[in-house]
Amino acid sequence: MLDLRAEIEALEPELTAAIGAVLRSGRFILGPEVESFEREVARYLGVAHAIALNSGTDALTIALRALGVGPGDEVVTTSFSFFASAEAIGQVGAVPVFVDIEPRSFNLDPDSVAAHLSPRTRAILPVHLFGHPADMRALRSLAEEHGLPLLEDAAQAFGAEYDGEKVGTFGDAAAFSFYPSKNLGAYGDGGLLVTSREDVAKTARILRNHGASGRYEHDRLGYNSRLDEIQAAILRLKLPHLDEWNAARRHIAEEYRELLATLDLFTPDELAPARHVYHQFTLRIGGGRRDAVREKLSAEGIASVVYYPVPLHRMPLYRGLDLALPEAERASREVLSLPIWPTLDSPRIQRVASTLRAALG
Ligand SMILES: Cc1ncc(COP(=O)(O)O)c(C=O)c1O
Repeated sequence: MLDLRAEIEALEPELTAAIGAVLRSGRFILGPEVESFEREVARYLGVAHAIALNSGTDALTIALRALGVGPGDEVVTTSFSFFASAEAIGQVGAVPVFVDIEPRSFNLDPDSVAAHLSPRTRAILPVHLFGHPADMRALRSLAEEHGLPLLEDAAQAFGAEYDGEKVGTFGDAAAFSFYPSKNLGAYGDGGLLVTSREDVAKTARILRNHGASGRYEHDRLGYNSRLDEIQAAILRLKLPHLDEWNAARRHIAEEYRELLATLDLFTPDELAPARHVYHQFTLRIGGGRRDAVREKLSAEGIASVVYYPVPLHRMPLYRGLDLALPEAERASREVLSLPIWPTLDSPRIQRVASTLRAALG
């Protein structure tokens, strides 16, 4: 699904030099690389504050805490995402209220959100799934109308835009993940919380460092959630390449779309004014054929993955919920993601497409 060798080979001399410099500096946690990365990434995204953390999951959890979400509160979110989006809500003692998706973008459906707001709702948490921005115009106006904070889960969408602005700048706060497979990936775990709210940034910095507002001044329970200097140095090196890598992903998506245009399946849409960054290139194959197609691809040595085969409201943890979310359930039955990474070349794209054509019969 993903081959990082070409990327690593191309950057190897710079990576080795940057990691060596950190080793020689003797500063491994919360040092100059993290500070510089936070400044550079905030400038890139167009936000006032960037706080580098251990993971995207921690970024969501800490953002929820900093936004004042806690036990007994409800957070409205999508049922079609990676588990971490809901897990963070549970970690702060709040309850995820799962709602359905808009089928073309796989993202939170604003009408469904509006129908599930209650007096206990304390935040709205959209996910920019697969690199396609959620409908931020509708979601932001809904959040404003009801006086609710908006927290963007932008783990899969670094560099994606909506109406000419980067995702992560629309909400009260946003969470990014630097898991190695992400569009901007570390070579280990990492995450980022961004916000333009001074109060949220201040609390997040305290929470990431054991709830300490000064040396040995712990005034609340926090976390050990700091990005390390080596990962920050790696991310600083990779950030200037990100636009070029995202452009390459868009080009690959275009090539796939042209090659697959006549097949009996749906290729991913880009709904204006969203600018997709194709963290995944996710098809829909209907009529109960998806799993057989996947097996045929696999028999020919072509990787593909089902993200996500079970919608969140059907997870064992949420067994008690008796929800019918038809679009999230249909997506789980139909989706299939094809290999995509910035250096995936045309011959390989063509081989994936022709194998898929044969698999569909
Ligand atoms: C949508 C989404 N949210 C949150 C996360 C959590 O990020 P991390 O793995 O860095 O904790 C991920 C990815 O792994 C994700 O895909």
